[in-house]
Amino acid sequence: AKPIRVALLGCGTVGTEVVRLLTDQAGELTQRIGAPVELAGIAVRRLNKERDVPKELLTTDAAGLVTSDDVDVVVEVIGGIEPTRTWLLDALRSGKSVVTANKALLAEHAADLFEAADASGADLYFEAAVAGAIPLLRPLRESLAGDRITRVMGIVNGTTNFILSAMDATGAGYGETLEEASRLGYAEADPTADVDGFDAASKAAILASLAFHTRVTAADVHREGIAQVSAADIAAAKGLGRTVKLLAICERVVSDGTESVAVRVHPAMIPRSHPLASVNGAFNAVFVEADAAGEMMFYGRGAGGAPTASAVLGDLVAVARNKVVSGRGPRESAYAALPVQPMGNT
Ligand code: NDP
Ligand code: HSE
Repeated sequence: AKPIRVALLGCGTVGTEVVRLLTDQAGELTQRIGAPVELAGIAVRRLNKERDVPKELLTTDAAGLVTSDDVDVVVEVIGGIEPTRTWLLDALRSGKSVVTANKALLAEHAADLFEAADASGADLYFEAAVAGAIPLLRPLRESLAGDRITRVMGIVNGTTNFILSAMDATGAGYGETLEEASRLGYAEADPTADVDGFDAASKAAILASLAFHTRVTAADVHREGIAQVSAADIAAAKGLGRTVKLLAICERVVSDGTESVAVRVHPAMIPRSHPLASVNGAFNAVFVEADAAGEMMFYGRGAGGAPTASAVLGDLVAVARNKVVSGRGPRESAYAALPVQPMGNT
């Protein structure tokens, strides 16, 4: 079959692992997809940076790569709102499927991206954007699409969980653990996005949008980070048989017969016997409650190059398979406009 040609935008912590997995598993992926997957180019900022990928594929012309007729699928692991928003809209409008790990972008511009995808019939997949390797978004979009989800709640930021776990376990200082999280590739390019709860708020907005089939943006999410959590707070929690976790909570609320959505991110003291208390390091865990299914828990590695690349590759296989059979994944541009409860931000 005709090869599926892929433009990779970004080759940092996640992108490098995407190239490694694509290369190492080329034969098996071809078998699973029904066509070979080939890299058409890799867009980066610095051509002269030392990296373990084929040099002839590197370019600084991401815009040219995205619009090239030689490309079927665009995989974006750069991050940020612009220029990635423009590039991904261009790709979708020209019928190229998009796989992205960019939660910041989806939490602000999902509506435009979904509309562009639905207008051209392209796929938009983004499993890596929330909870790293954990298959969570496709269960919400597909497996649970026949149920009514009422609540999604859990730990969705690996960096802050890594910091809080270390502070709880060893009394380690905040600064040194944040440095370690950055060194291990868990933190965002600007780690204040993790520490101040912006990253978790973006993920909460994406989870609420998918779970409740509505539109929630990061600005709708009540947000409080962990910057104010001190060693003394953690010690006090310990004394009460509790530990501190940064939680994202998305709820469907029905009041006086009117349905709305409430979404918040904040540190919480939870009993040490609670399953979330034993989620440590860069691991994430998310509970989903649905009317018919009841309660489910999703657990796994929430950050880091290889775990995130696993989710990106899963999406790439899905969109490539769809290209092979001329099919496509779920449509998202049809949704109910549920009001979001105003909570204000700190
Ligand atoms: P990095 O900072 O490690 O890598 C970013 C890459 O993008 C680099 O290769 C950089 O080029 C390239 N880049 C930046 N600006 C441009 C530009 N204008 N044109 C072309 N290339 C550019 O980020 P990560 O790999 O950690 O994260 C990538 C995305 O994945 C982000 O959206 C992040 O939120 C998301 N993500 C990350 C996770 C993680 O654990 N790291 C987990 C889940 C999602 P150069 O190498 O030349 O500097
Ligand atoms: N910075 C993010 C985190 C990466 O720490 O969870 C994974 O989305």
